[in-house]
Amino acid sequence: MTQSEIDFFDALAPLWDANEERSTPERVRSILSKIGVEKGARVLDLGTGTGVLVPFLSEMAGPDGHVTAIDLSEGMLARARSKYGSLENVEFLKLDFEEEALPGMYDLVMMYCVYPHLHAPADTFEWLFKMNLRPGGRIVVAFPSDEKFINDIHHERESESDHLPSASRLGEIFRQWGYDARILADTPDEYIVEVSAI
Ligand SMILES: C[S@@+](CC[C@H](N)C(=O)[O-])C[C@H]1O[C@@H](n2cnc3c(N)ncnc32)[C@H](O)[C@@H]1O
Repeated sequence: MTQSEIDFFDALAPLWDANEERSTPERVRSILSKIGVEKGARVLDLGTGTGVLVPFLSEMAGPDGHVTAIDLSEGMLARARSKYGSLENVEFLKLDFEEEALPGMYDLVMMYCVYPHLHAPADTFEWLFKMNLRPGGRIVVAFPSDEKFINDIHHERESESDHLPSASRLGEIFRQWGYDARILADTPDEYIVEVSAI
């Protein structure tokens, strides 16, 4: 993550929750129910932001599970910590998940509203599968919208790397990288691609 990207999210942090329209509790619950989070699961929430997924992941994983929520924007992370820092099965870490080694092994790695911000997605996926996924573990790329909505938001930034392919195209890309990929949802309100080892 570049310093200008960190500054960008730090500046957005105070307004993030007030401007959040798509990640309603109902939609987040619907998305997570399609993904399935088992009791006792160890979950990694990459790019947690203000922690929109955190209370739901915490509840679904339960007291025997654990949620590690990572972000590099101190502004975003401070908001997440202030809301959910008291949840016993949750920890927050300030790390660059594309550049730094991440502690722990996980059953589920969530990338929620994060994929277009990756700089080197193939390398990041390879590293996560090698270092941080338990046998049978999954990485899930999800959004509370379709790709058109996301690409319209990112349009003004005019960066090719910000472009989000359709769910079916992203699934093909993951298969070309040597993984199994399943489309769990592809509607105007839910985009969910699950990636696992073959
Ligand atoms: C669009 S926001 C989404 C936040 C949250 N998942 C949500 O849906 O509200 C993307 C988040 O990912 C974080 N992020 C992007 N790249 C990152 C990286 N390499 N390491 C850590 N955090 C990163 C940003 O700081 C930002 O908070």
